[in-house]
Amino acid sequence: MGLGTFWGISAGAGDPDWLTVKGAKLLRSVKWLACPQGAAGQPGLAFQIVRSWLQPEQTLLSLHLPFVTHSAQLQAAWMAAAEQLAPPLEQGEDVAFVCAGDVGLYSTFAYVAQALRERIPNLSVQAIPGVSSPLAAAALLGSPLVMGSEKLAILPAMFALSDLEQACAWAEVVVLMKVAPVYPQVWQWLAEKSWLDQASLVVWAGWPQQALFPTLEGLADYQPPYFSLLILRSRQRN
Ligand SMILES: C[S@@+](CC[C@H](N)C(=O)[O-])C[C@H]1O[C@@H](n2cnc3c(N)ncnc32)[C@H](O)[C@@H]1O
Repeated sequence: MGLGTFWGISAGAGDPDWLTVKGAKLLRSVKWLACPQGAAGQPGLAFQIVRSWLQPEQTLLSLHLPFVTHSAQLQAAWMAAAEQLAPPLEQGEDVAFVCAGDVGLYSTFAYVAQALRERIPNLSVQAIPGVSSPLAAAALLGSPLVMGSEKLAILPAMFALSDLEQACAWAEVVVLMKVAPVYPQVWQWLAEKSWLDQASLVVWAGWPQQALFPTLEGLADYQPPYFSLLILRSRQRN
């Protein structure tokens, strides 16, 4: 018997209408569907985005993929996820793993796929691209993310201000993901450079609680949630 395919479906950054037609078609056709769990063990954000496409006869595998940085804990979670997903794949059935945003942009899909490949070396893994949060955020702000000869840098997180300084030295546009924990520090740095009007913050893009801040003027004390990103133009656009 052949193996099933492990699909990564990009659910889009929040608005359910951002799911692609290809993603929706596949969502409806697979029997086995996997989603990361939310913080309290319930189906997480990706599930909430795609729930209207799901069929009652589909089996939902809810995966515990904790938001931690501890590498041994993460490894264990990816291996446990692979353990849950392997049986249907080994029996020739396709499994679709749904992630918020795009599965190719800082997503757990890659790690789960890797853990599965260690178990099932010949496994076919395919990704369906989608609307990632930086592109969704730019669209909501009504401005292209980059244009002409502008260079783009995306920082997955900021560990030191020098990361941001280096990115700004090279790129005209810098996206800072996972900005929440470093926001006060970044705001101060922007204020010192008089760049508050060159930075925008997008919170919960595409969700009902979405908030858009085209500039950071007056937002020193704001506390962004995890689902926030900052777009900085290091040179003024003409
Ligand atoms: C692990 S990354 C996942 C990125 C996702 N795969 C994508 O394509 O957008 C999580 C970070 O993405 C950003 N993010 C994801 N969805 C977002 C949304 N709807 N609004 C604002 N930021 C979002 C936040 O910076 C968050 O901390």
